[in-house]
Amino acid sequence: MSSHWGTKLSFSIFGESHGAGIGVVLEGIPAGERLDFDELGRFLLRRSPGRSSLSTSRVEGDEPEFLSGVKDGVTTGTPISALIRNRDTRSSDYAVHLDVPRPGHADYSAQLRYGGHQDVRGGGHFSGRLTAPLCVAGGIAKQVLSRRGVTVGAHILSISGIYDRSFSEHGLSLDELSGPGKKSFPVLDDSIGLEMVSAIESAREDGDSVGGRIECVALGVPGGLGEPMFGGVENVISSLVFGIPGVRGIEFGYGIGAADLRGSEHNDGFELAENGSVRTATNRHGGVLGGITTGMPIVVKVGMKPTPSIAKLQRSVSLDRQEEVELSVKGRHDPCIVPRAVPVVESAVALALLDLMLLG
Ligand SMILES: Cc1cc2nc3c(=O)[nH]c(=O)nc-3n(C[C@H](O)[C@H](O)[C@H](O)COP(=O)(O)O)c2cc1C
Repeated sequence: MSSHWGTKLSFSIFGESHGAGIGVVLEGIPAGERLDFDELGRFLLRRSPGRSSLSTSRVEGDEPEFLSGVKDGVTTGTPISALIRNRDTRSSDYAVHLDVPRPGHADYSAQLRYGGHQDVRGGGHFSGRLTAPLCVAGGIAKQVLSRRGVTVGAHILSISGIYDRSFSEHGLSLDELSGPGKKSFPVLDDSIGLEMVSAIESAREDGDSVGGRIECVALGVPGGLGEPMFGGVENVISSLVFGIPGVRGIEFGYGIGAADLRGSEHNDGFELAENGSVRTATNRHGGVLGGITTGMPIVVKVGMKPTPSIAKLQRSVSLDRQEEVELSVKGRHDPCIVPRAVPVVESAVALALLDLMLLG
């Protein structure tokens, strides 16, 4: 089932970008968890568009209405359902894409799959807007995890080849981990952030778009979670991260770069901490060996493509007229989806880790 995920913790995401609303049904959150709705609101705001010159001007409050599963601010243990009503839609910009598909978007593949019955308005169920309910579930998961000593944070690692520094490999503090999430442009080094902003603005002036990378770390994850082969922590996290529209790749620790190293350069030697526990001196493995957590921070890097919908002229075809045409995409689009995707990646990682922790 494409829009349903999970085992012990599970959720379904429903809705279309320009339909009546979007939402999530989240099951498996234990009873008795107090939810901080102000904190959840601040988290959702990090994904919302219309708050900076760099994102689409569509104004979305993204205010979830909780229909079930929470009483007096505390989870009941039964399914939590949340609805976000759609407002500020401008569907006329999209009608053309049933006939002329946007290069890089899902218009053509959805046409093949659903034969014209797909809701193309605003990207329908393929829209980045569907990451709002994912963040509702993820924001709840983050709160439940933090009560169990696990903190998930992320920042923009690169945009258009301009790199922020990585999170500290040694002694990463909670302040450093959650610092970028408090900024309107979530980077560690603000001067690099300004360079990234200029790259995004310059792409937009050209009627173009840019992509980039997000680095996400989970601190405090206990060792021994996950299973080998197909039940590995990398498998579980990846299955969620690839549900985020626009994701092209994911790496753990040194990731694919490990392929260029010798074993002696890539292995993380073990050592004893002051309290006698075993840890690794370095963390190139990114907190997972054999699909199982080692107790070191989980380090995930996600690559996102440039926004498909661009004003620049591109090649397409008219499916109705069976002829080649040129297309300049209209509508309100982010010239770069990476800044808004940062809390979405945090959500995906948090939901995966909470599922694994509840499985034990
Ligand atoms: C937060 C977010 C916002 C997005 N905004 C846009 C957008 O404004 N315009 C667009 O063409 N794609 C946008 N996307 C990406 C498309 O939804 C995505 O590329 C498309 O559904 C095709 O899926 P795929 O790239 O995973 O193959 C956004 C993605 C996310 C995560």
